[in-house]
Amino acid sequence: MRMYDLIMKKKHGLVLSDEEIRFLVAGYTNGGIPDYQMSAFLMAVCFCGMDEKETLSLTMAMAESGEMLDLSAIHGKTADKHSTGGVGDKTSLILGPMVASLGVPVAKMSGRGLGHTGGTIDKLESFPGFSVSISNEQFISNVNRMKLAIIGQTAELAPADKKLYALRDVTATVDELSLIAASIMSKKLAAGSDVIVLDVKAGSGAFMKTYEDARRLAERMVDIGNGAGRKTYAVISDMNQPLGLAVGNILEVKEAIGALNGRAPEDVSEACITLASYMLLGTGRVRELPEAEELLRKSIETGAALNKFAEFIKAQGGDERYVYEPDRFPEAAHCCELKAETDGYVSEMLTEEVGLASLMLGGGRETKESEIDLTAGIVFQKKIGAKVSAGDTIAMLYSGDAGKLKAGTARLKGAIRIRTEACAPLPHILGVVDKS
Ligand code: URA
Repeated sequence: MRMYDLIMKKKHGLVLSDEEIRFLVAGYTNGGIPDYQMSAFLMAVCFCGMDEKETLSLTMAMAESGEMLDLSAIHGKTADKHSTGGVGDKTSLILGPMVASLGVPVAKMSGRGLGHTGGTIDKLESFPGFSVSISNEQFISNVNRMKLAIIGQTAELAPADKKLYALRDVTATVDELSLIAASIMSKKLAAGSDVIVLDVKAGSGAFMKTYEDARRLAERMVDIGNGAGRKTYAVISDMNQPLGLAVGNILEVKEAIGALNGRAPEDVSEACITLASYMLLGTGRVRELPEAEELLRKSIETGAALNKFAEFIKAQGGDERYVYEPDRFPEAAHCCELKAETDGYVSEMLTEEVGLASLMLGGGRETKESEIDLTAGIVFQKKIGAKVSAGDTIAMLYSGDAGKLKAGTARLKGAIRIRTEACAPLPHILGVVDKS
């Protein structure tokens, strides 16, 4: 087999076999196929696409290029949830303990913040002592003991995707549906859970800007997951404004603790209940969605989810007292308000810009090596649809650095639009892909 022939075949829009796709993934991962040939192939995929079968082959070849986590020692069906990346998305911190408190094993692999989006691991590291660097044995034993554990993504997981993603990033070949779907799903399949619930974001803060594109991506990922023998669902959710009110690590953790105490903003509650319901349905814990919703709401009312969160934080080395006494978290040295300059209605929030404003405050990384200011971020008092008068506070901004506070505030100011015409609040859940 020759790479040249495979490039030619894809250039003419022909379908590649499983064997051919495995040949090119293995060849690129082991260095036998050079960057220039793989770049040409990726560009051909951008123009001609890949069908469902090819995408599944690509996903499996990438997943199997490294370690495939074996979770068979875990008792019961395991559930995982993955978001395609958003701003203010703290759902994993809330729904993980909710689902685990109902006896369903949640064996989750999470990432750090990327670009303008936040990451679960950075948020969890707000708890002094907390670590996701636990061995696979510890991971499995924690899930068996208390139904919830989270580990970080290791270099051994889907190394083919790591190499290909870096190449796509510099060859303008990231935004092709089958390549994105295979990239995300290869990591999810390698992470081993039986049930995968995807939260596919659509809007100005998301990778997919329109509902139609997000839906197509969701459908393809669900087909891949189901085709690989994992029960997979996708929820399509709005990312034309941040999720909840808080953006930034400690600020989001505090909002998550509030949610576990029954004080979730409406969109956060809806997101958590919807995603968690599919985790319960997929694992067979419930037979119908309304039953899931009732159990999940009870897990909050009884304090079971909050106690599960504290147990999980402690088991991974964190100080669980912060769960019950969130005032223990440090506060930013500097803060200021962003005020409305005119009367009207909040009509638009450029959500990628909101994420970048939080990053500039110190809440995210400028480079891979940057240290995060865990206290930095934004707490909104108004979101889309809110009526405001000139002088009303739209958001509070926090940073450990006065210069960063100024820069972040200027950035946020440009991200919020106020218009005189009334505008309706945005719905959060836009659709579901359930092919079971
Ligand atoms: N996230 C990924 O992991 N891969 C992509 O291709 C896009 C987003």
